[in-house]
Amino acid sequence: MQNQIQIPTTEPERQYYFIGEAKKLLEKEEKEAGRKLTFHVTTFGCQMNARDSEKLRGILEDVGYEKSDSEDADLVVYNTCTVRENADNRVFGRLGILHGYKDKNPHMRIAICGCMIQEKNVVDKIRKSYPFVDIMFGTHNIHELAELLTENMKTGKTTVHVLEKGAEPVENLPIDRTYRFKTGINISFGCNNFCSYCIVPYVRGREKSRDPKAILTEVEGMVKDGVKEVMLLGQNVNSYGKELNPTVSFAELLHEVDQVPGIERIRFMTSHPKDLSQELIDTIAASKHVCHHIHLPLQSGSTRILKDMNRHYTKESYLDLVRRIREAIPDVALSTDIIVGYPGETEEDFEETMDVVRKVRYDSAFTFEYSKRSGTPAASRPDQVPADVVKDRFSRLLAEVQRYGRERAQALEGRTGKVLVESVNRENPALVTGRLENNSVVHFPGSPDLIGQIVNVKLSECHGFYYIGEMQE
Ligand code: SAH
Ligand code: SF4
Ligand code: F3S
Repeated sequence: MQNQIQIPTTEPERQYYFIGEAKKLLEKEEKEAGRKLTFHVTTFGCQMNARDSEKLRGILEDVGYEKSDSEDADLVVYNTCTVRENADNRVFGRLGILHGYKDKNPHMRIAICGCMIQEKNVVDKIRKSYPFVDIMFGTHNIHELAELLTENMKTGKTTVHVLEKGAEPVENLPIDRTYRFKTGINISFGCNNFCSYCIVPYVRGREKSRDPKAILTEVEGMVKDGVKEVMLLGQNVNSYGKELNPTVSFAELLHEVDQVPGIERIRFMTSHPKDLSQELIDTIAASKHVCHHIHLPLQSGSTRILKDMNRHYTKESYLDLVRRIREAIPDVALSTDIIVGYPGETEEDFEETMDVVRKVRYDSAFTFEYSKRSGTPAASRPDQVPADVVKDRFSRLLAEVQRYGRERAQALEGRTGKVLVESVNRENPALVTGRLENNSVVHFPGSPDLIGQIVNVKLSECHGFYYIGEMQE
């Protein structure tokens, strides 16, 4: 009779089993090395990845690795983004540096995960041109890190596991939050919108909402653990819960989270304009803790381009939405994402975008040059906009959004606002740094024990995109 321990087949039990296995193997390796082994997780991309990295770090800490601030560590994990080509290039560039570290450290392992790894050509390229990478896994199985690490520790061979689509999200694995007092929380995974330029639906899979009870339980647990601010995360939070049975609207979920005792600030990201309901606007207006800040990606101000992008709104309906939001929430801060140089974009289309920017007067805007992502419908269009035209439009747009950003920030100078203190100021240790409800950064004289607290700060001087303030009693 064989006396073999059964490997659990259900999650998260299976991963806790492999955390135990990896721990034993790590202890053995540490004995050989005569020192503790360290890890570092580097995050590229969006808030989803930032949250995933908290999960990766939680697993590695449970395995017994020590956290390091440097990439010159014994296990380096790159959690990657592929939304634009320069995101990919950054990763490939930095892999060269990691190779240098690995040459000098026989205990070093390199793992790459996240959105880039969902693309087959990337995995092939890494296998061929960066064979020193030890472990690769995708967006649907980040919970398997300990299992893949165990396999790699046992075999010493490149370990690759990528799933085409996600099963049920695995809950209740360890988590190491970047900040004690704020964090993201997934409310949905994936995206169903297939905007014609965007690779996210291909690398993150179909939209799947989490059970609202699981979300609320998680928020309650976080609050007990010291969290004051949560950011509800989904590629399109506004379509949350549509496929659940019974259905739950995002507004209903937000209302429930607002009632969690002890929660102080709630943010959410991202809101697709096509699904932003009046119910949601009214819920935010009536809420106690939802920040008066909405990130509302415009992408383009030209109805013709929006149609081609598959965004399902027009210039007019977007402006009407902004009007209704401002009517219900007069002090709301609005931010946006804009793409310049989408295939077929004419000067007239671009002027429509500039017109929306002038009308909305965003508090802040992320502006991007269109980047061709292979496999997306827009990539195969013959009418790509020449690079010099894109560059010219990009700088005109940037100047415009910065002008309004400064103007909006300036308008708050002299007022007092609530700041969640995040850290000691990097350049001047006599200052601490935190964020207003509208997400603006404020630096003010204060001691490190204020970190994690929400305090009243007078916004004495506006310096363009940040303030120097004074704490009030
Ligand atoms: N789900 C979010 C956005 C996720 S990607 C939403 O719908 O708003 C973040 C931003 O990257 C997008 O809003 C878009 O402005 C930009 N982006 C996505 N694909 C891009 C591409 N191919 N080229 C340039 N920018 C892109
Ligand atoms: Fe991409 Fe559009 Fe989905 Fe946002 S909503 S992730 S831009 S496809
Ligand atoms: Fe990038 Fe993936 Fe987020 S492609 S923007 S990290 S979902």
